Amino acid sequence: MRLKHLSNGSIEFDENLQVINEFADSWNAERTAYVMELAYAIAIPNPEKLNKHYEVSTDETYGEIRLHQLEKLLEHVKLTKSSIFLDIGSGVGQTTIYMALRKKFKKCYGIEISTLPIIMSTVLEEVTKRVFKLLGINTNFYSLKEGDCMDLQFVPIIRECDVIFINDMKFTPELREKITEMLVARMKDGATVITSGGALGLENRRRINVRNINNLKAYFETVKVKGEIDGVSWTSKPAEFWINKLNRKRVQAFKSHGNY
Ligand SMILES: C[S@@+](CC[C@H](N)C(=O)[O-])C[C@H]1O[C@@H](n2cnc3c(N)ncnc32)[C@H](O)[C@@H]1O
Repeated sequence: MRLKHLSNGSIEFDENLQVINEFADSWNAERTAYVMELAYAIAIPNPEKLNKHYEVSTDETYGEIRLHQLEKLLEHVKLTKSSIFLDIGSGVGQTTIYMALRKKFKKCYGIEISTLPIIMSTVLEEVTKRVFKLLGINTNFYSLKEGDCMDLQFVPIIRECDVIFINDMKFTPELREKITEMLVARMKDGATVITSGGALGLENRRRINVRNINNLKAYFETVKVKGEIDGVSWTSKPAEFWINKLNRKRVQAFKSHGNY
């Protein structure tokens, strides 16, 4: 920030002040999204194939979050220089690569189960590498993995993540419950899960009580966020998202002291 706030309330532009924003060396969101969209258009000229590839309303139904929407959602999460990001069901990998390019996270991962997006993600990765090289820009570490997020091979990644994004709006309730249980067991306390399919936890600062203590929802503190218009590919209306913070300690405290 080059603006100096003076004691008399006025603001002065300080030419000598260092830019102290920790992400100052990264591109701004608009430029980064433009580069990403360009690479996407070259690598995946027929994205509608993704929508047609699967039967409607299965766990693998495709749909994408817009990059500016994801950017907005992250404003609700406290990040540090060592924060780690994971997209569960990363599709063609554009959110993971974009996040690595934005350098908001030390490391970014994506895990995807379906074959067609996996193939497309390989092409997208190759194209982005070339485009970034051409423009002289680099990314932080990222890795796109193929497989089921429930698989034991992904435990170390899930354990180290600070922010997990799941575009789970079209997931079945059974899959959502299975993933939630897996996250409660494997994720670190205090980590955040952003979902599009509903709340993982208790909303509106609801407290734990004898009625909800045995519910999976007791493990998360959830805030609902209204999305932007055109924030996702499946509707031009504002979508909804939930920011869910894992808080195992409050369940443990209630179980041992009967209050929280
Ligand atoms: C709606 S798409 C989201 C794509 C991307 N994350 C985005 O928001 O732009 C959901 C993706 O989750 C994947 N998926 C479903 N079940 C999964 C599982 N158990 N493990 C990993 N990926 C899964 C689907 O194949 C699909 O590509």
